[in-house]
Amino acid sequence: MATQSTWRGQLIELLLIFFYFFNFISIYCFAEVEFNVVPEKHAAFFIFGDSFLDAGNNNYINTTTLDQANFWPYGQTHFRFPTGRFSDGRLVSDFIAEFAKLPLIPPFLQPGFHHYHNGANFASAGAGALSETFHGSVIELKTQIKYFREVVVTWLKRKLGKAEGGLMLSKAVYLFSVGTNDYMSLFLTDSAFLKSHSKSQYIELVIGNLSTSIKEVYDSGGRKFGFLNLPPIGCSPGMRDEDGGCLEELSAYTSVHNQRLVKLLKDLERQLKGFKYSLYDFSSSLTDRMENPFKYGLKEGKEACCGTGRFRGVFSCGGKRGVKEFELCKNPNEHIFWDSYHLTENLHKQLAHEIWRGSSSRHSSLKYLFQTI
Ligand SMILES: *[C@@H]1O[C@H](CO)[C@@H](O)[C@H](O)[C@H]1NC(C)=O
Ligand SMILES: *[C@@H]1O[C@H](CO)[C@@H](O)[C@H](O)[C@H]1NC(C)=O
Repeated sequence: MATQSTWRGQLIELLLIFFYFFNFISIYCFAEVEFNVVPEKHAAFFIFGDSFLDAGNNNYINTTTLDQANFWPYGQTHFRFPTGRFSDGRLVSDFIAEFAKLPLIPPFLQPGFHHYHNGANFASAGAGALSETFHGSVIELKTQIKYFREVVVTWLKRKLGKAEGGLMLSKAVYLFSVGTNDYMSLFLTDSAFLKSHSKSQYIELVIGNLSTSIKEVYDSGGRKFGFLNLPPIGCSPGMRDEDGGCLEELSAYTSVHNQRLVKLLKDLERQLKGFKYSLYDFSSSLTDRMENPFKYGLKEGKEACCGTGRFRGVFSCGGKRGVKEFELCKNPNEHIFWDSYHLTENLHKQLAHEIWRGSSSRHSSLKYLFQTI
C-alpha cells in the first residue's frame, strides 16, 4: 500500500509539472501569434504564374477540369481536402511562405480575401506569358499583373498610405513560374497563332512578354524577384513518347528559353536601379532527381502517382477530365510526379529548401531576398 501511495504522489507531481509546462507553452505560443502579426522584418510575398504555384485561383473562374484540381485525390495528404493545388499537398510557395514566417498566402480570387499585408497569390493553372496560351481557360499573366496593380492602388497605397505602402512593396518578394504552358500548348493545341512563328521568334515573344510583366511590377515598386527556369517538361509522364523517351522537340524550346532567361535577368539588373533577383535552376534539379531518384529518398522518377496508362501519363487523376478510371499510388512521397504533369508535395518541399537556401552563392537565395531591405 505504501508504495502505491508514493506512486500516486509521484503521478500527481508529474501531472502538475505537465500543467505548468503546458501553461508555459500556451503563453509562449500566443506570444508567437501576436508577434507574427507584425514581425520586425516582415516582407510580403506575391506569387505569379502557372499551376506550379496556383493555390486555387482557378476554382473561381469559368474554365474546365483540365485547368482545375479542386477534387479528390488532389490535396489528399497535407490538407486532407482538395484546395485547387495541383499536388497531393503543399506547393513550393507554401513552404517558402512558411520559411519566411508568413501564413499560407491565399489565392487572390478567394472570396472574402481582402487583407494583402502578407501578399497574395495570382497564379493560374494553364497560364503562360502569352495571352494566346490556353486563351479563355486561364487567368493570363497580363490579367494577373492587372489584379496586382489593383491591390497596389486600391489597397496598399490608399490604406497604408503612399510612404508605408511603397516601403511594403519594395520589401516584398515576387515569385514567378511561367513559360512552361507557352511551349506545352504548341504540342497540345492547334492554335494558328502559336504555330505561325519560327522557334526563335516564338521564344522572343515569350521572353518579351515576361519582361513586360516584370517591369510592370518593378514600376509599381517591386524590387526583389524570384524566378525558376523551365523544367524538362518533355520528360513528364504526360509528354513521354511511345518508347518512354522524353519529347525532345519540347526540350529544344525550353533549353533555349532558359538561356534567354539568364540574359533577360542580367539585362534587367543593369537597366533597373535596385532590381535584385534569384534564379533557381529547376531544370537541372528535376533532371538530376529523375536520373537518380534514390539519391533524394525517392523510389520512382518516371511514373506518376495518379493517372491512367503508361507512366500514368493520361491526365485523368480524379476521374473528372473525360477518362473516369485512374490509378492512385499508395505513397506519393516516393514519387517525383503526382499526376501526369505536376509534382508531389515531397518534391515541392525538396525544391523549396533549395530555393530558400540558394545554390551557388548566398545572394542567389530567396532567404537573402526576404531578409534584406
Ligand atoms: C463559361 O464558359 C462557357 C464555355 O466557354 C460558356 O458557354 C458559359 O456561358 C460561361 N459561363 C459563364 C458564367 O460565364
Ligand atoms: C507579347 O505577345 C504578343 C502576342 O500575345 C505579341 O504580339 C507582342 O509583341 C509580345 N510583346 C513583346 C514585348 O514581345
